[in-house]
Amino acid sequence: MIIIDGKKVSSTVKEQVKNETAELKAKGITPGLAVILVGDDPASRVYVNNKKKACEYVGFRSEEFALPATTSQKELLDLVEQLNEREDINGILCQLPLPEGLDDNAVIEAISPLKDVDAFHKQNVGRIMIGDYDFLPCTPAGIMEMLHAYDISVDGKNCVVIGRSNIVGKPMAMLLLHENGTVTICHSRTKNLKEITSQADILVAAVGKPKFVTADMVKDGAVVIDVGMDRDENGKLCGDVDFENVKDKCSYITPVPGGVGPMTIATLMKNTLKAAKLQNKIYD
Ligand code: GUN
Repeated sequence: MIIIDGKKVSSTVKEQVKNETAELKAKGITPGLAVILVGDDPASRVYVNNKKKACEYVGFRSEEFALPATTSQKELLDLVEQLNEREDINGILCQLPLPEGLDDNAVIEAISPLKDVDAFHKQNVGRIMIGDYDFLPCTPAGIMEMLHAYDISVDGKNCVVIGRSNIVGKPMAMLLLHENGTVTICHSRTKNLKEITSQADILVAAVGKPKFVTADMVKDGAVVIDVGMDRDENGKLCGDVDFENVKDKCSYITPVPGGVGPMTIATLMKNTLKAAKLQNKIYD
């Protein structure tokens, strides 16, 4: 069993982005990322801080817009509109979910598709479906990069994704399909979940429930990818997979923390760099 080191793979990606950023800066271009955080969800605060830290590391400018939970939909959309217009901002990210009363989808659709470094806008989602895209969503693309780094082939494999969110589950299934996986998406209404997951050569858990995937759900020798960021009964950070009991059945498994999380951020850096290049008509 090999524990996939997401931190290490993400460092390699960030190093590459850092080098390319230095080249861009020599041409007078500094990529800029706007990060919008509405309300005071502690987990979102941590994610946003980590994203800002990564920007600093690779040499981007990042600008944070921390708004109170009482912010109106119009105020938020006005801010997005201003950021769409600014030439020094290449990427716009609004941390989701938004507080009650604000519409995630309206904000996603307001972000210019050219600055949509999360790849959540329907125009970008559509482009991913047909395989003609500039940006890939950060978590699924980060997972694919991790599989590549460990020479794990998807071609012809049974891939099972648990979770059907627009952020992870659905695009994850699409990226696995692009690499010729035979993909099944499971969700809260799936019958016989265990029978399906037990067939998976590659199992991706994006459920949002602590230790949801137990050893009896996993095939011997499976590759298990854990997207969860949950708290166990003692308040300790854990994933969607019962790591201690599942790990010995796996060929590869990602830990939480130190697995998927760092890869999400590394992909965000890649996307922001690409956005800056495209907006400056650098095509390579
Ligand atoms: N919330 C959970 N994951 C993400 C992500 O990748 N991007 C944004 N903006 N919000 C999220």
